[in-house]
Amino acid sequence: MMMLSIFHWLSIALALATIYHYFRQNLILMKKRKRLPPGPKGLPILGNLHLLGKNPHKDLAKLAKKHGPIMHMRFGYVPAVIASSPEITEKFLKTNDQVFANRPYHEGAWYVSYEQRSITFGQYGLYWRNMRKLCILQLLSGHKTGSFQLMREEEVGLLVKSIKKAASDGSAVDLSDEISSLGANMSCLMIFGKKYMDKDFDDRGFRDVIQEVMHLGAIPNLGDFFPFLGVFDLQGLTRRFKALAKVFDTFLEKIIDEHLQLREEKKTKDFVDIMMGFIHSGASEFEFDPRHVKAILLDMLLASMDTSVTAVEWAISDLLRHPEAMKKLQKELEEKIGLDRIVEESDLEGLEYLDMVIKESMRLHPVAPLLLPHESTEDCEVDGFSIKKKSRIIINIYAIGRDPKVWADPESFIPERFKGSNIDIRGKDFRLIPFGSGRRSCPGLQLGLTVVRFVLAQLVHCFNWELADNIQPSDLDMTEVFGLVTSRAKHLRVVPTYRLHG
Ligand code: HEM
Repeated sequence: MMMLSIFHWLSIALALATIYHYFRQNLILMKKRKRLPPGPKGLPILGNLHLLGKNPHKDLAKLAKKHGPIMHMRFGYVPAVIASSPEITEKFLKTNDQVFANRPYHEGAWYVSYEQRSITFGQYGLYWRNMRKLCILQLLSGHKTGSFQLMREEEVGLLVKSIKKAASDGSAVDLSDEISSLGANMSCLMIFGKKYMDKDFDDRGFRDVIQEVMHLGAIPNLGDFFPFLGVFDLQGLTRRFKALAKVFDTFLEKIIDEHLQLREEKKTKDFVDIMMGFIHSGASEFEFDPRHVKAILLDMLLASMDTSVTAVEWAISDLLRHPEAMKKLQKELEEKIGLDRIVEESDLEGLEYLDMVIKESMRLHPVAPLLLPHESTEDCEVDGFSIKKKSRIIINIYAIGRDPKVWADPESFIPERFKGSNIDIRGKDFRLIPFGSGRRSCPGLQLGLTVVRFVLAQLVHCFNWELADNIQPSDLDMTEVFGLVTSRAKHLRVVPTYRLHG
């Protein structure tokens, strides 16, 4: 046998050490790459779907207490990651914003968004970006929002008049119904240029139909999680969405026809006219056809009609449960405006307590407790964990709003906690993001906040309120109905007394 020299032994040792090092490194890397966030054990096939009940935001908040602020779950074949702390949320919506800016496919949304032609349900990309820009420019910018101030003041004035009438009879009003009609009227005037009555739309009226969309849109659709089940439509969701889409389409066709007929006579163009002007105009980077117009009109209606008034409904409910906070807000309004006239939008600046009440109410009752679902467009690492491409990302702002590590005494309504604090609700501070944050955040924030501040200020300034049917403030039922917009389960019935002079 040939003797090996020291040199040969050293070469072999070096080669073995290199191979060992190479495999060890790769093993570490693979382990690291595959490390999923912690989460509850799933059932075969079903995954964790069985853990979601009627209030998924509450179910997920409970699970996060056990498994942590970044949690991995599986809904059928779809991996999901749930963020439940400000720090983790920031990593999704700021640090890696672009990777998580897509929306997952949703069978129902497909029908009410004209096959994902809306902004809300549109895929992240050029089309979505252009449409979003267009809507901000033509409807939602500060300038455009300001141009509807007079309309809002008139509509809120009509609401006050109607409640004042009930007050003079000493009768109870269904405040939920009243402000819901206000929401419908303001949205129709802004988007379609005129008011439509409930019966112009559907026998059931606007709120019922729109709340059905919001409710159905939030129900986990088995077809989305088990694609092979889609065709069977076991829950009947697709059938119901198709029926809803038909109601909307008939209504939108009517609006477009009306606009076509009046085109020549009109001096000023409304949003519908502007959108219709893009059809086959070559002005945009893609071929704009009537489906795009209808998708955007419906998107704006769905996104604006119920959101702001639901936030007002929650804030008034919180104030009714806390009469001392209601008095404090009335005092602030009285000092600024007096009791001889109603509030105008120009009075809203510098109403510190009003803003504190709104922040506190949005912390406890975010209108969209899980925002809208996001989806990852590529594999990514967050907080050392691997997140697969096409994972569903759920941001639980309800859990963040009630986390004792983030807020002292989180279950209590204490607007004063915001005194002197720089916590803002416009998406910069991840402790409080009722409008989301980053690329997919709400483009209607300015409009939404203006409506919430104005309507709430007006109602609190004009009236004293008592709960109808001898209900005590602390007994007011605050049960929620979870949906894309999460509203009160029970209508708010109250007895108003007019408190202004004249
Ligand atoms: C108090 C009122 C409102 C609240 C609390 C609110 C909240 C939200 C939230 C949480 C999202 C999802 C953010 C995300 O997925 O990360 C959103 C998206 C959206 N909101 Fe609002 N919103 C309000 C009013 C409005 C209004 C008045 C409009 C006007 C039309 C509007 C238009 C939209 C649109 C188009 C989207 C989809 C954005 C996208 O996917 O790019 N919202 N909103």
